[in-house]
Amino acid sequence: MPILSAQHLNFIYGKGTPYEKHAVHDISFSVEPGEIVGIIGHTGSGKSTLMQLLNGLLKPMNGTVTVDGQDIWQNPKTIRKYRFQVGLVFQYPEYQLFDETVEKDIAFGPKNMGLTEEEIGERVLRAAELVDLPPHLLPKSPFDLSGGEKRRAAIAGVIAMEPKVLILDEPTAGLDPKGRQTILEMIKAYNQKTGAAVLFVSHNMEDVAALAHRVLVLSGGKEVLFDTPDKVFAQSETLQNLSLDVPVATRIMLGLKQKGFAVKDGIYTLEAAADEIARLKKEGGANA
Ligand SMILES: Nc1ncnc2c1ncn2[C@@H]1O[C@H](COP(=O)(O)OP(=O)(O)OP(=O)(O)O)[C@@H](O)[C@H]1O
Ligand SMILES: [Mg+2]
Repeated sequence: MPILSAQHLNFIYGKGTPYEKHAVHDISFSVEPGEIVGIIGHTGSGKSTLMQLLNGLLKPMNGTVTVDGQDIWQNPKTIRKYRFQVGLVFQYPEYQLFDETVEKDIAFGPKNMGLTEEEIGERVLRAAELVDLPPHLLPKSPFDLSGGEKRRAAIAGVIAMEPKVLILDEPTAGLDPKGRQTILEMIKAYNQKTGAAVLFVSHNMEDVAALAHRVLVLSGGKEVLFDTPDKVFAQSETLQNLSLDVPVATRIMLGLKQKGFAVKDGIYTLEAAADEIARLKKEGGANA
């Protein structure tokens, strides 16, 4: 059974006003336990709106979201439960750090869940370790951390709730390559250690190629593709028409193909590209 499922989701901002905007249009897709899904789409395509529908921060006008087979809006009084089960890390989450210490900030979510002090303490340490925040930073003010550390502290606050589904809205935006790498490794570690499903929004195709088992492509609030990365990145024309990129490795393979080399389809990581080029060299390559 899917851990998370969206069925015919619709969301309209400012319904009935002149500013009405149909931001999410009949979107249906399902995520299996342990799966990592990358969400891509041009600015304004509805990615953030969809993420907020999935954890019950926004209520759909039509359609349902189910977590573990349960309709999250069946009883609106229990919606909070699902916000803990589907943890959402906003874009630039570091702007939401507010407590006196990093430790208190990370503890905020678990505290709201009504856990014991002991359990909260353990979760804070586990989450901090997972995002690679050393213990000596915990008593500090979040405002004394570096940009990358702040981002990780904010993510730790959601991870400490131990959600079954972790959603991150552009988790690597604005970070340098090293900061980006740390976040990607952290996402993978959370997924592998806990078996949680992860959804992440990204403008960076390399990040999507490196992490995602499946990719959801949105345009104008609609679902365009939902498939494995090799299948999605093989549709380079569709992506280009949506002003989206393909990973560097895919671009290199397309270039070779256009020059008449018999390269395999479905390559989207640099490792696979290197293997393919080595194979071509060995076999003497060109077929044209
Ligand atoms: N609070 C709001 N009120 C009215 N319209 C909104 C609101 N939030 C978003 N929209 C509109 O809904 C559409 C989808 O916005 P959304 O933020 O979900 O897109 P996005 O894919 O996350 O974009 P980005 O890549 O820029 O983050 C856009 O046209 C946007 O202008
Ligand atoms: Mg957004």
